[in-house]
Amino acid sequence: MLHNGIYDLFSPLETPRLRIRKLGIGDAEDIYAFSRDPEVSRYVLWDTHRSIADSRAMVRGALRSYRLGEPASLAIEHRQSGKVIGTIGFVWIDDEHNCGEIGYSLAREMWGQGLMTEALRAMLEFAFARLHLNRVEALFDVRNRASGRVMEKCGLRREGCLRRRYYNKGEYIDVEIYAILAADPRP
Ligand SMILES: CC(C)(COP(=O)(O)OP(=O)(O)OC[C@H]1O[C@@H](n2cnc3c(N)ncnc32)[C@H](O)[C@@H]1OP(=O)(O)O)[C@@H](O)C(=O)NCCC(=O)NCCS
Repeated sequence: MLHNGIYDLFSPLETPRLRIRKLGIGDAEDIYAFSRDPEVSRYVLWDTHRSIADSRAMVRGALRSYRLGEPASLAIEHRQSGKVIGTIGFVWIDDEHNCGEIGYSLAREMWGQGLMTEALRAMLEFAFARLHLNRVEALFDVRNRASGRVMEKCGLRREGCLRRRYYNKGEYIDVEIYAILAADPRP
């Protein structure tokens, strides 16, 4: 099955509190506001943004991926404030086996309100109903239990621990792999 231009099929996903939409260059300031926070980048594979130039480069990378039809981050916009408070998107899509991986990050002041659970549920709906994927994976540093809990709440199941899978921020890290199939229940 072909997923060339996966976000060509994409129109913004509206949830009660969020709008998931493509990034634009005007979002760089909002992205910088949370991506400069080392607590946000602690367990992810990207580095803490040192200046707004890093955030602009990140957005430009996403725009390029949209043009090429490649997987990329999308903006999580907080509907009430209109601010971009996080990102979520496909890390990769495997056309041959009809599966993909989702990754996400959220501004620290927004943690603990169920927002990423809301965002991930919407992305799973997009993945299964619109892209017709059969399987979606998500990975997290074993120390990042909150991320594992988000996955569980969305119906992903633990499949195992990938030992020393990534070299991140100066050390090899153990990574949990969770996944959900199209046929699995979605709470
Ligand atoms: C991980 C992250 C996405 C969670 O987003 P969030 O919107 O706060 O998540 P939610 O509020 O939807 O759910 C968090 C759950 O984790 C739980 N939790 C929070 N801290 C925890 C901890 N240290 N140990 C175990 N569970 C924890 C919360 O209690 C909640 O579960 P509950 O609803 O059963 O009470 C957010 O903290 C984040 O963006 N962190 C930085 C970037 C990152 O790590 N991204 C993920 C990379 S895999």
